[in-house]
Amino acid sequence: MLRRTISSMFVVALTLAATFGSANGQDINRAVFTADGKAQIPVNWRQWIYVGTPVTPNGLNKGEAPFPEFHNVYIEPSAFAHYSKTGEFAEGTQIVKELVLVRKSENGNEEDGSSSEVSGRGFFQGEFQGLELTVKDTKRFAKEPGGWAYFSFGHKPQPYEKTAAAFPTDSCNACHDANAAEDFVFTQFYPVLRAAKP
Ligand code: HEC
Repeated sequence: MLRRTISSMFVVALTLAATFGSANGQDINRAVFTADGKAQIPVNWRQWIYVGTPVTPNGLNKGEAPFPEFHNVYIEPSAFAHYSKTGEFAEGTQIVKELVLVRKSENGNEEDGSSSEVSGRGFFQGEFQGLELTVKDTKRFAKEPGGWAYFSFGHKPQPYEKTAAAFPTDSCNACHDANAAEDFVFTQFYPVLRAAKP
């Protein structure tokens, strides 16, 4: 009897640890920071879970889209697993957005940047043009609304910068706060996250 009580207490404790561990992000792969608080560029982000690609071609934005041009967005896999299970972004969640220019076509590009290729007229991906990262960490970034901090490793071709300092709240966080569908993340543009939400 006593034995059974003790073993069922043990199971409860384990369940609680799993639940709180996950809520606290203890099972989430974390971003790495330098001693002076800069984020290090993630490793292998193109092997993360792909969630969607908004596209704002320069050709449709007076030659200069604020974020040129394709935005390929990926979420770190352990954060994705947590989101799929709970529908929430865990402490430690990392999401990147990699910018990719419209492809220069051998067939020539239209004024809007589009080109006619085998599959029809449209926009096709060319070269990489920058990498941004957001991290949710309400302890490290206690002053940022929602605990979300934002970084850029450059709006330029590779190689990207190796480290990046967090932007001031007004530069990035404020627009995400005002416009993103869910916890500062633009899930309205990410079909993969919408499909994964329980
Ligand atoms: C004017 C509004 C606005 C500002 C300012 C802004 N963003 Fe965003 N951000 C967006 C939108 C809209 C998306 C959705 C994807 C897309 O269209 O690129 C997005 C998506 C992202 C994502 C992918 C994850 C997510 O939250 O959806 C990252 C990373 C990101 N932005 C980084 C930054 C950084 C870094 C800055 C500051 C230099 C910044 N953003 C400033 C509007 C903004």
